[in-house]
Order: sequence, then C-alpha cells, then structure tokens
Amino acid sequence: MTSSEVWDAETAARYDADSAEMFAPDVLDPAVDLLVGLAEGGPVVEFAIGTGRIALPLRERGLEVRGIELSTPMVEQLRAKPGGREIEVTVGDMATQRVGAPGSAALVVLVWNSLSNLCTQDEQVACFANAAAHLRPGGRFVVELWIPEIDRLSAGGRVALATAELGDHIVLDEFDVATQSCVSHHYRHDPDAPPGTVRYGTGRFRYAWPAELDLMARLAGLTLEARHGSWDRAPFDHTSTSAISVWRSA
Ligand SMILES: C[S@@+](CC[C@H](N)C(=O)[O-])C[C@H]1O[C@@H](n2cnc3c(N)ncnc32)[C@H](O)[C@@H]1O
Repeated sequence: MTSSEVWDAETAARYDADSAEMFAPDVLDPAVDLLVGLAEGGPVVEFAIGTGRIALPLRERGLEVRGIELSTPMVEQLRAKPGGREIEVTVGDMATQRVGAPGSAALVVLVWNSLSNLCTQDEQVACFANAAAHLRPGGRFVVELWIPEIDRLSAGGRVALATAELGDHIVLDEFDVATQSCVSHHYRHDPDAPPGTVRYGTGRFRYAWPAELDLMARLAGLTLEARHGSWDRAPFDHTSTSAISVWRSA
C-alpha cells in the first residue's frame, strides 16, 4: 500500500509533451553529465523512472540502468521508445520494491522531486533505506528535490503562485505547513484547444527540507558527500529553489 497517486494512462501519454522544458538539452544535459560522473561506470538504478527522461540518456552513455516505477502506463511509454525495452523496469513502490541484485548498484537516482510523491515521512524514510539496500559499498544516492517556496505565502495564507511567469500553464500550490503537505493545482491552455478552455490537473506531495533528508540518509547508513543548487553544481544556498544531494554508503 502506498500513499502515492498512481499516474493514469492519460497523464502518462501527455507526460513528455507537458514536461517539454525538462527534456530540453540545457536542463537535461547537465543532469546526465553529473550522474554519469557519479556512476563511475555503473550500474545505475533509477527510482520513479517514469518515461525514461534520465534513464535513456544514461543508457546511451554506456551505463547499465534498471528502474522502479509505480505507474504501468508510464512504463509503457518508456517501453515504446527506442532502447526502452533494454531497460529492466519493475512496477512497484520505490519505498519497498527491489530491482537487480541487492548491494550491487553504484548509483541510485531519484530526480525531479519524485521523493515528494511519497506522502508520508515513514515512506520517505523507507525509500532511503531501500536505496541504501541497492547500493554497493561506496555507492551513491542522488536526490533532486524542490525547496518549497513557502516565503511566497502571505501571512497565515496557504496558497502561493508557483509559476514565476504567467502564460499557458499556471500552477497554484496549496501548502499545509503543519503536515508538510502540498497540493499543486495546474491550469493549462493547450494550443490546439478552443480559446478560453482550460485543462486542470492536480498532484499531492510531502515536501521535506535538506536537513530532514540528511537525517533520513543517516538512518539508512548514508553520509552526505555533496549538495548542489543546480545540476551544473551551483552552490546550494538560501536562494536555491532545488537541492541536488549526494549521499554515499560506507
Ligand atoms: C515527476 S515524474 C519523474 C519521472 C522521471 N524520473 C523523470 O525525471 O522524468 C514522477 C514519477 O514518479 C512515479 N512515482 C510516484 N510515486 C511512486 C512510487 N511510490 N514508487 C515509484 N514511482 C512512483 C510517477 O508514476 C512518475 O512516473
């Protein structure tokens, strides 16, 4: 049983187009470059592998990649792509599911805020333990997780505009700071849709600060090696909107 929402076929079919900016070379290439370096030849396990945005380029760079993914429709999208069937993917929950031989991975990857799809602290702690169980000695766990911009909330308020620029896609985030939960509301106008029509989607998350992640890592026997504010290794500081954390197993 998982607290995560299971992404349906319609969401999966739209995923790459709706996330086009995340597939752009200026976003993707620095991430792949950093991960290839950290993998030191692999093998790699990607938790929440999705449609293979990261996994396929890692494989193209010569790494053996396996994945875990909760949504069967997302896996079907991956398998329909060139090279997608060469990646072993197990459908299951990244908090508990295993793939490949235990203790054999050089790198476990969990990117684009996907840790926060686990909506309880217990499951996030279990996810760190699961990552550690996949790693060989000296192996690394890399997590890319957003820093929630709760400073955008008005005093006592719960809703913040999450998109910096208004356009065809507006996101409102509804925070509950007491439970570290967030519901994102997405309003999109598709270019081929009639004027004035809006497509609505929603997602539920549990956010966590880097300090809490470090404790989860410590519980799993992992030690912080580096934390960056972006994939091109910008320093992580108080202005960072994302943290890319690298922990190592002993
Ligand atoms: C933002 S997408 C990221 C996909 C891919 N890693 C990427 O970077 O494009 C989040 C993914 O997490 C998956 N997911 C959500 N909860 C999960 C869970 N408990 N276990 C495994 N995958 C999960 C979703 O189905 C979705 O494919």
